[in-house]
Amino acid sequence: MSNKLWHPFTIIKGSPEPLKVVKGDGAYLELEDGRKVLDCISSWWVNLHGHSHSGIAEAIYKQAQQLEHVIFAGFTHDPAEQLAELITNKLPKNLNKLFYSDNGSTSVEVAMKMAYQYWKNEGEDRKTFICFDGAYHGDTLGAMSVGERSIFTEVFKDWMFDVEVIPFPETWFDDHERASKEDAVIEQLENLLDEHPDKYAGILIEPLVQGAGGMRMCSEEFMQKLHWVNRQFDVLLIFDEVMTGFGRTGDYFACLKAQVEPDIICLSKGITGGFMPLGATICSDDIYESFNSSDPNKTLWHGHSYTGNPLGCAAGIASWKLLEEYEEVFTSMELIHQKNLEKLGDHPRLERLRTKGTIAAFDVINGKETGYLNTITQDINLNPEAKHINQRFLEKGYLIRPLGNVIYLMPPYCVREEELDGIYDAILELV
Ligand SMILES: Cc1ncc(COP(=O)(O)O)c(C=O)c1O
Repeated sequence: MSNKLWHPFTIIKGSPEPLKVVKGDGAYLELEDGRKVLDCISSWWVNLHGHSHSGIAEAIYKQAQQLEHVIFAGFTHDPAEQLAELITNKLPKNLNKLFYSDNGSTSVEVAMKMAYQYWKNEGEDRKTFICFDGAYHGDTLGAMSVGERSIFTEVFKDWMFDVEVIPFPETWFDDHERASKEDAVIEQLENLLDEHPDKYAGILIEPLVQGAGGMRMCSEEFMQKLHWVNRQFDVLLIFDEVMTGFGRTGDYFACLKAQVEPDIICLSKGITGGFMPLGATICSDDIYESFNSSDPNKTLWHGHSYTGNPLGCAAGIASWKLLEEYEEVFTSMELIHQKNLEKLGDHPRLERLRTKGTIAAFDVINGKETGYLNTITQDINLNPEAKHINQRFLEKGYLIRPLGNVIYLMPPYCVREEELDGIYDAILELV
């Protein structure tokens, strides 16, 4: 094992040694010791069609022989143009201008800069974003500022800017208070916008599912109410679809599932099917027009060396074609989750069962407060000797990575129904 590496999101002392992966094949990863594990979380939610998919691999290979990269200021190329066409043709009609970057946090940074500068270009000084509790938008400083303040952000708090935080009306099966929770949030939002109509640059949300905050889900109806407020009060609505994009919620994008037209949308993760780092921020014609000027002060001065990388775009095009080919899979996976979650319904230690599209989640009750550092992973039976839950699933051949006491499943779309059923059997046995 190399001692030259520093791994992300890892407490250095006491964490298990990283497992060496030697191969990926469909929904499975093969470890150095020969074990095969089913990737139930699509390797941090990026993989859509399975590992090492030959169609995407070949597209990258072909593109690499043609043009591996070119500066994207003053130059363009077919893969960037084609992928932008494919994505914007599917998105709501108002979202027409795509700005490339190279990861999810950056796609959010770009969205915030676009929104902030849009108001400046329009002659208004709107500085504050309205965000949701439990949100996660990435690890760069701006993205941290609009996310939930937590152990992740604590040490950097003096560097971060202020935002207005409102509750995320999370819901689950048999939640009888859904509508009242949503109405209370909408009322709070309306009051804020009523009191200070010129203060807020935008409302930023992970639509339908908050990812790292614990796979918390809200309803399509709530998204529509939010859209209504956004139109009434002329504040920008920004959807961070870094995780929810590309089929995850059961439609191509959460905004389509919820039938809502945001002003800006952020994409990454599944954009290349999990092969190459790529990000994209897509904005409305209205926003773009406010930058459409020869005045340098109205220019978006932002860019990255790998912006619009042709290999990433070629992977994106190949992945998009697979998405269209297998549309039936991501639009129907929710039914398989639902069927299995019903089997877990009476489990005494599970609550808040929920599913949206290809994602399913539930909380494990373990007598401790919900949160990232509530490690059921170490102590699911409140027994200090208990084995790490990740370890127990690995022994059964499943890669999971709970978010605190939330266990979730978000498999690649090539997973078969009986494999998915098998994961739930393992949950019944191990939790
Ligand atoms: C909703 C959302 N936004 C942004 C990010 C940040 O993306 P990245 O890790 O590529 O910077 C994530 C990552 O998990 C995410 O889930």
